[in-house]
Order: sequence, then structure tokens, then C-alpha cells
Amino acid sequence: MFDVIPTIRFRKGAVEIIDQTRLPLHYTLKRIRTVDALCEAIRNLRIRGAPALGIAGAYGLLLSVEAGWGGKKSFFFDDVDEAGSAERIAGFPADARVSDLRRHLDSTLEAIRATRPTAVNLSWALERMASVYRRDWDSPASLLPALGREAFAIFSEDLEMCRALGVHGAALLSDGDSVLTHCNTGGLAASGYGTALGVVFAAVEAGKHVHVYADETRPLLQGARLTAWECVRRRIPVTVLVEGAAGSLLGRGEVSCVIVGADRIARNGDTANKVGTFNMAVLASRFGVPFYIAAPSSTIDARVADGSGIPIEERPADEVTVIGETRIAPEETLVYNPAFDVTPHALITAIITEKGVFRPPFDFSKEGG
Ligand code: MRU
Repeated sequence: MFDVIPTIRFRKGAVEIIDQTRLPLHYTLKRIRTVDALCEAIRNLRIRGAPALGIAGAYGLLLSVEAGWGGKKSFFFDDVDEAGSAERIAGFPADARVSDLRRHLDSTLEAIRATRPTAVNLSWALERMASVYRRDWDSPASLLPALGREAFAIFSEDLEMCRALGVHGAALLSDGDSVLTHCNTGGLAASGYGTALGVVFAAVEAGKHVHVYADETRPLLQGARLTAWECVRRRIPVTVLVEGAAGSLLGRGEVSCVIVGADRIARNGDTANKVGTFNMAVLASRFGVPFYIAAPSSTIDARVADGSGIPIEERPADEVTVIGETRIAPEETLVYNPAFDVTPHALITAIITEKGVFRPPFDFSKEGG
């Protein structure tokens, strides 16, 4: 088995996450028992990264059943191996109605969906869960195990997709390559293996030597804090740079390719990812360096024709003006703090998914090359 980080797990009635706001200084597992606490964790990026958000959403619906509905503690999901046993279902309130449960799940779903709008994986996973509980069930006892199985399938399918896209992407890398990346797209951003950084992991597992250049990724420093942590943990050489240094680095010819992840990919290949990605794509194009997106197909939003249809999350001003406890700009200053930007498809060399490597013109209805 390849090395997987326990980014997010469902264990004994709670969602367990690595609290990513505490890395790299503290490795802390946090057990989340309520939907409110899960929403807080998502909004404050304790759990983050598009695929991980999808899993968090699915587990959030299990949590809302665990936490009880109509004030009753009712059911018990355990973990990946046990989606709800007959014995546990026997403890479910005898008077429970499927319609009440469905209403309860619908309102939880909307609360979770509202936490972060850009990563389509979140609503993709929630809709998968909804398509299970909106089916015609005769009792909660038959519905609930199916809901558990769906959530755990979302988790394990993500691991498989990330692993497969890593292998496809690794074929694009040669021994001795240097990869520039942005934000964090490793195991912490997904079920535990990663997307863009997963490509690097797969190349290294295949025996290639790869050097990672990690943009620090202002304002929340996912590159410096998380990508560097994951590389160091795997003994992959990593150099952190401020985004402003990327032009100079690319201009020196020291980067073989840029690989980044995605939060939402439109039908035409336009890709939303962490703000600053667009700048990297422009620079890569200026210097003739290949620019790759790596993402599972759960990040492709077939309902959106192009980047103009992707909602971009705006984040609080103090993420930019305050570092730790220290204010770095006057209180009165206005702030522009979009969490993501859209890279036009014309700047993208290829999009790597678990189905293969797609090159322009992007047509995701076919198998990749
Ligand atoms: O705001 P974040 O940290 O959730 O943003 C994450 C990114 O932009 C990642 O690049 C993207 O979700 C892909 S993660 C495999």
C-alpha cells in the first residue's frame, strides 16, 4: 500500500481530522461530533482541499444522523469497514419515519454546502449522498446503512482516483525533474494521497528523483506550511519560495513543469484553483514551461461551460492584513481577498485525471491519453 496520511476518517460516530491550521508545528487529530463543528472546521480550513472537502461533506451527513435528529441519539456509524450493522439499526427509534430523516438530512446538506462555494467536490459528494437518501426507502433501517456505504465509497474511490492519476501524471516526469507547485495538493488535501503532489509522490515511488518548488501561497500559506511538511515527511527535497519569486525561478530555466490541483474544472478546461495559480500559468506560458492540472474527475463540473460560471469564494480581510497576532496593514485599508482564481484553458498544457492525460481541446467525455 502506498503511503497515506490520515487526513480525514470517520471513526466511532465522529469525524476525525488532522487540524491543518496547526501544521507544521503541531500534528493534532481533532474529533468532530457535530455538524456545526464540522462547518466551522471547513470554513476555517482545518480541513481543506477540494477532494477532502467532498469527503468531509459526505461524513457530515453521517454525523448529523449520529448527533441525533428530533433530539434523539439514534444510530451509530463506525468506520470504513462497518457502514451500520443490523444490531445497531435495531436501536433506531421504532417510530422514525423516512420523510423526517430526509428533511433532517436536506437541511444539514444545505448548511454544509454553504461553507465553501468554489470546490465542486463538496456539492458533488453531497449530491451523491442525497441521491441515496432521496430514493424510495421503506424504513430508516434500510436507508442508513446505504448512506454509510456511500460516504465510505466516496472516501475510498478518492484514494483510488488519486493513486491512478498520480501514475498517469508520473509518466510525464523524468528522473531529475523540478516541479513548481502552488498551494497544497498532497494527502492533506484529499483522502490521504494527493492530486498534483500525488503525481510527484507516484514519480518518486517509481524511483525518479524529483525536486519540489513550493510557492508559499499567501495568505494562508498552504504551500509553506503543508506542502513543505508533506515533502519533508516523505524525504522529497523541497524549496519554498514567495509567489513573487516564481517569475525569476522560471526565468532561470530551473523548473521542468508546473503542476497544480483544481477546485473546479469547467467543460472547456478553464480551471479554478488557489488564487495565484493564474499568475503561475501566465509565467509558465511566457517561459515555455508545461503547465499541468491534476485532479480527480470529481472536480470536473460538466454543468459549467467555462470559467465565468465558477463561483469564487471571497475570504475575510484579516487573512491578508494580519499575520498571527500582528497587523501588517492599516485598519482602514480595503482588501481584495479572493480564495481562488480561474486559469483559462488556453494556458493549460494538459489535465491529468484518473482516466488519463487530457490535452486541448479538452473533451472529458472521452478517455484521456
Ligand atoms: O483554500 P484551500 O486550501 O481549500 O484551497 C485548496 C486548493 O486550491 C487546492 O489546490 C485544490 O483544492 C486542489 S486539492 C487536491
